[in-house]
Amino acid sequence: MEIGDWKATQGLNETFRMARELGIETNLLELEAFGFTVVPPYKAAPKAFFERMRDAVFDLVANEDPAAVDLNLQKDEDRPAYGRQFFHLMVKDPVFAESLMNPVNLTFGRYMLGATSRFYSQVAFFKTGTVGVTHLHSDSTGMPPPLPHYGNVCNISWVLTDYTVENGTFYMVPGSHRFCRHPTDLEQPKFMGGVAPDDIGTPVLAETGSLIVFHGNTWHGTVPKTSEGPRVHVANALCRNYVNPAEATDDVPRELVERLGPEFAVILGGEAWQGYHGEGPKIQRMARLRPSQQSPYG
Ligand SMILES: [Fe+2]
Repeated sequence: MEIGDWKATQGLNETFRMARELGIETNLLELEAFGFTVVPPYKAAPKAFFERMRDAVFDLVANEDPAAVDLNLQKDEDRPAYGRQFFHLMVKDPVFAESLMNPVNLTFGRYMLGATSRFYSQVAFFKTGTVGVTHLHSDSTGMPPPLPHYGNVCNISWVLTDYTVENGTFYMVPGSHRFCRHPTDLEQPKFMGGVAPDDIGTPVLAETGSLIVFHGNTWHGTVPKTSEGPRVHVANALCRNYVNPAEATDDVPRELVERLGPEFAVILGGEAWQGYHGEGPKIQRMARLRPSQQSPYG
């Protein structure tokens, strides 16, 4: 059917039309049903873009001091994930901000979190050699249960090497976005000699150039990595406009904001209505939220 400019679904109309134009409607349905989906290779962006992203991460691997990241100083058993993680990417290479502003990336965020969704965090994950698993968790970090049935955050992971079982890909529990709670220690998969067929979840297979997209409630971790080669992805996380973002953006270069335009500034929270002093909230900033409030999907 034709999506109209319906008053009752302001904000959603445009997001849905964009999803149709980008050919990701099936992905939205998979997200609704299972809490995760995979966008096929080079549908979100051309191969050259994914190669730029991968090269930018490899540059960080080669040049960033591991001691610059607090998590790297912890013992492996105390860390949320093996390997190296790189944070605050937008100040390190413009390709990361470009991935945030990619239409497919933004459309997933706006569908799951509302037309006023904002930047939450961006993290590059790099693993090499054989490593253990990331335990099952949800990305609704710090949110006490019950979680709402809708996500407060979402994860759009840009896959920069092939994500296979051997390469320690994601492990997801289909439908877990509807459990509305975090997994307990008792629910962790065993991975005894590989992925057990009767376990609760499934490995998610995705070739280089894919996006692995999931709801903020979805239970996920990783399978053991048994390959020698590198495993790399960049997780673009967005949040609802009232969520406190994990990552600061006050030092994103001004030239980058000017180049990517006013929409980028809004997504970074530059037009947030929160944070006023005695002058009170700015009416234009509050008005910007209204289309989302009228949409049943936020
Ligand atoms: Fe996670």
